[in-house]
Order: sequence, then structure tokens, then C-alpha cells
Amino acid sequence: MSDGILAFPSILHTVPSLKATLALALVASLCYVLPFFCAKMSSTRMATLFRLVPSFAILAFLYVVISDPHIARDIFVNNGAIFSSRKDYFIKNQSILRGRAITASQYNDKWRNHRRIAGQFMTPKAVAGFANEIDYEAHILMQTFYTETAKGAGPVSPQHDTVRYALNVMLIMALGIRTEAASHPFVDRTLELTLEFNDLTGPLSNIEDFITPLQWFNTNLKKRGRKLHDAFIEVYGALLLEVKAKMDNGEDVPDCLAKTLLLTREQEGLDWEDMCMLIAVFVLGGVHSTAGIIQWFMALLPAHPEVQRRAHEELDAVVGQDSWPTAEDEARLPYCRAIIKEVLRVHAPFWMATPHYSTEDFVYKGYFIPKSTSIVLNCYTLHHDERRYPDAHAFSPERYIDDHLSCADSAKLSNVMERDHWTFGAGRRICPGMAVAERELWLAISRILWSFTVHEMPNEPISLEEYEGQSGRTPKPFRVRLIPRHDRVHSLLQSRDEISL
Ligand code: HEM
Repeated sequence: MSDGILAFPSILHTVPSLKATLALALVASLCYVLPFFCAKMSSTRMATLFRLVPSFAILAFLYVVISDPHIARDIFVNNGAIFSSRKDYFIKNQSILRGRAITASQYNDKWRNHRRIAGQFMTPKAVAGFANEIDYEAHILMQTFYTETAKGAGPVSPQHDTVRYALNVMLIMALGIRTEAASHPFVDRTLELTLEFNDLTGPLSNIEDFITPLQWFNTNLKKRGRKLHDAFIEVYGALLLEVKAKMDNGEDVPDCLAKTLLLTREQEGLDWEDMCMLIAVFVLGGVHSTAGIIQWFMALLPAHPEVQRRAHEELDAVVGQDSWPTAEDEARLPYCRAIIKEVLRVHAPFWMATPHYSTEDFVYKGYFIPKSTSIVLNCYTLHHDERRYPDAHAFSPERYIDDHLSCADSAKLSNVMERDHWTFGAGRRICPGMAVAERELWLAISRILWSFTVHEMPNEPISLEEYEGQSGRTPKPFRVRLIPRHDRVHSLLQSRDEISL
């Protein structure tokens, strides 16, 4: 056995003896219950479990859990041609996303095509094209915080506002629209659908995947999966039709994914479901993940006054109090950047990323990994590896102070021990939304630091251990006081005109 990966016992791929069959049955029945526990466990507890169980089988399904950075690179990056597919889960992939939305596509031409088309709206160039709109949404987020906290007097619950911030950026890029207020009914509807998606799609799948006959019955899970699929088509289809109506009327529609899809539909060979699901994935992939990091940042700050103090000193020295940080200031504010990387490390929204799936038999350093094995990137253990992150359980932005690379560039480093973290996954399926997420995080977090000091509410301790049940990514709901740091905050927040889309 090599460190970080456990090869499967040969009984899993040779004719089993009676003893071996019994052993397999035992392993299988023990492991069989694992996904149900996982679905009910907080991410932290789940990650702890996976440190203990580096690889396992659930009935006939094989899982390899990778917890070593060198092996992660060898498998996901160097052998990406073999380890870049997705398992065709019954509920997630077959019932809800129907092999679409990039993330549910197997490693084939459809995936390549969809990733290329939607990817145009996620690249650094696309981010530059939407710079003004993202900046505006970050401005609105600060304004909302300022109004809600009533100049520091009242508590703010960051959950809804951060979600709306991330949602608006996704809606602008995908559909050229935004919501005017967090109370807009569309905010609740899309979030309801996203939470239902998270609830139905655990990282290791559902019971229907392991007991095939269950797929023949109209189980509650199956009904919910189908209903959710129909809701995605209804909600995102209606929005696509609105964009189409505007284009048909000759109205000026801003550049966005929907416009591109409608214009190139025939030449790209896209059907209506392809288009709806490509829009949906922006909301599914890009809202709770990004909003969750901002929430974790706000939850962590009151417990780390020295981090706030150092960030304020850096901001005052580099940008001053007359204006707040912009995208262009990022390179000049290494400590603020380091805080973001450290939050991404300690609270990765997906502790097991999204499992990849192998499409060929493979022998890795003498260990056989059969075709059709799920490969899990164990971010929790990777992020707590003392060789890479000394005092790994401490929240310590200093560890990234000399890291000047974007997350996307860091993922390309040949020395894997220098890579910042694995929060965005690895290899050919690595998150294509990294550049967008990084810009959103930068503008929100650097401006919260510039504008406020963040305090815990008296008698309302913030839990840094537990995760909110349905999202599994965000902290449990909490409230903070945001005290404006100086008078300029008020005047700067009033200074911006509305943008028109
Ligand atoms: C902090 C924010 C985010 C985090 C932590 C995150 C994380 C991830 C992870 C772990 C994966 C799976 C990677 C793998 O299979 O190796 C992924 C995939 C994906 N993400 Fe993100 N993501 C974030 C933001 C976004 C945003 C903003 C978008 C859209 C603009 C997005 C779109 C996607 C898509 C489409 C995939 C599927 C890629 C594929 O299967 O080829 N993500 N993300």
C-alpha cells in the first residue's frame, strides 16, 4: 500500500473464493450504509471519516480516495485521459441533469463542446469583459451591509446578501439580468432549486445507484429528481425565452451565455435541454460555493482580531481611506489575498470535490485500478497535510504571503507541493469558474475589510465547526456587527450610479 491511496484487494476483480465472498459481503454491507450517513453528516465530520477510510467498495462500485498531492497529480493530471469521466449516477446524472450541465457529462465530445461554449463566459478574458458589472455587485453588497447594520448598531446576517451577490454575478453572465433586491421572488426560487439539488445529490450518490431494481419503482427520490429536472427546464427555459423574445424584437441584449446559445444553437448542435442546463449550472456551481467562502470569511474574522488588524494596516498603507480596493489593487495587497486563499483552504465548499470516474483499467505503481472506479479527491486530508501546511489546523493567512499566483495558475505548478490548495478540483475537470470566483471573492472580501471591522454579537457565538445542513458548504446561519471603519465609507457607498444592463 502506498501512502494516500489504497489499492483494492484482488477479490474485487478476480473470481472470489467463498471466504473472499463473505469478506466482500461484509465490506459491502458495511460500506453500503456509508452514503446515507454521509448525506446526514456535516462536511467536517464526513471529511474526518474519509481520513479513516481511504478507499472502499459499495457493493459492486469501487472508490479510490486520494489524499496525497503527488498521487493526485499523477492520477488526475498526468493520466487525465483515463481519469476524467463522471459516473452516471441515477438520481444526479440520469434523473436530474440527464448527462448535461457539463458536470454530469461523461468524458466525451458533448462534455468538450459544452465546456468550451460555457467556458467562454468564465475565462479571465470574460471576467475582464464583465469587470464593471462584478464591481457594481460588490458595491451593492457593501451598501446592503451598511444599510442593514445601521452604521454598526444592528446585526447583519450575511447569508442571504452574499448569496444574492453571487447569484447576480451568475445571472448577469448567463442571462444578462440581475435581481433588484434580496427579497425578489426569483432569489428564493433559484435558491430553493439549488438546495433541493444539493439535498438530492450527495457526493457518493444515492441508494438507487446501488440497488438497481429500485430504479424500476417510482420511489420518492426518483419523483423528486424528475420534479427538479422539470423545474430547471421550466425556470431556466422561461428566462431563455425572455432573452429570445428581446432578440426577436430587435432589442439590445447584453452579451451573455444565453445570447450566445440562442445564436449558435444550430451550428453547435444544442437541444433545448442542453441550453437550459448550461444556464442552470452557473447557478448550481457558482452561487453557494462563492457565497459560502465569503460567509466563512465573515464567520472567521471575529475570532481572529490580529488578522483584521493586519489587513487594515495593509489597506490603509497601500490604498488609503479615500478609495477602496479595486481589481487592479490585488497584486499590491498580498496579505488580503492571503486571507482569501487561507479561507479557501480551511473551508473548501466541496471536501471531496466532485468524484472523477475511470474509463480504462490502470496500474498505478503496481496497484490495479479497474475501469469504472470513482476517484475521490480528498481535499480535507490534502489541506491538512503537515508537510505542506505546517500547523494545518490553524487559520494562518501568513502561509500564503509569498503566493502571488491566481488559483488557476497555481494549479499548473509542476511542483505540486507549492500548489496553493485543491479547492477547485484537479485535472481536466477542474472548475472552469475559478477566475470568476476569484474576482468575486477579491472584491467582496477586500472591501468588507476596507469598510468594516467585523464583530461577534454578544451572546451569539459563531460555530466554526458546523456546516449548514442543506448546502453542506456554508456555515450555520450566524449574525455579526459590522462597524464602519471611517467616515469615508458612507460617502463612497453613496457615490455610485446604477448600472443598466
Ligand atoms: C469558490 C467557488 C467555487 C468552488 C470552490 C468550485 C469548486 C468546484 C469543484 C471542486 C469542481 C469539480 C472539479 C473536478 O471535478 O475536479 C467544480 C466544477 C465545476 N464548476 Fe466550480 N467552483 C466554484 C465556483 C464556480 C463558478 C463561479 C462557476 C461558474 C461560473 C463554476 C462552474 C463549474 C462547472 C461548470 C464545473 C463542472 C466542470 C466539469 O465537470 O468539467 N464553479 N467546481
